[in-house]
Amino acid sequence: MMRALTLLTLLLLAGPAYPQEAHPGLALWKAFGCPDCHGALGQGGASVEFPKGPNLRRGYQDRAFLTEMVSCGRPGTPMPAFLDVAYTQRMCAGWLRPNEPVPPEVNRLGVFTAAEVAAVVQYVLDRIQGMGEISPSECAAFYGDAGHPDCARR
Ligand code: HEC
Repeated sequence: MMRALTLLTLLLLAGPAYPQEAHPGLALWKAFGCPDCHGALGQGGASVEFPKGPNLRRGYQDRAFLTEMVSCGRPGTPMPAFLDVAYTQRMCAGWLRPNEPVPPEVNRLGVFTAAEVAAVVQYVLDRIQGMGEISPSECAAFYGDAGHPDCARR
């Protein structure tokens, strides 16, 4: 019994040492393709195939800003609008255009619901923004492989 309690205490104490552990938004972070442009861990894009999104780990944006950004994108830049009804049934950048086509300067991906947008925003708030340098355990947890080249470099 004592041993079990000690083990439990150790596990609880160890919790924060594994910051990347199963977060409900992680699968969506991947499904949205944020890593393509912003880097797997939000460290800034370095891919030659995708637009280079900025480092989000140094970000300090609030939930409202992030929700707007992910829902509506940033017109005139590669940052896409992901919300299924963005620009059509939901106001973006002050526009409400129920029956008009989405403006051409908007990179429209838009296949996610408002709940999915909220979950990915929560992930950015919990695991990306303000996280600073990538820790080895974070990197290994993300790839599920401690030997991943991105992890070895850090
Ligand atoms: C196709 C590439 C691409 C994808 C996919 C993408 N982004 Fe971006 N994102 C960008 C680019 C490029 C910018 C910079 C826009 C600019 O020039 O202002 C940006 C800007 C942002 C910003 C604003 C940063 C700031 O403070 O100004 C946030 C927040 C952001 N992206 C979050 C996300 C999240 C979260 C996802 C996934 C849901 C995502 N992005 C997917 C390319 C992308």
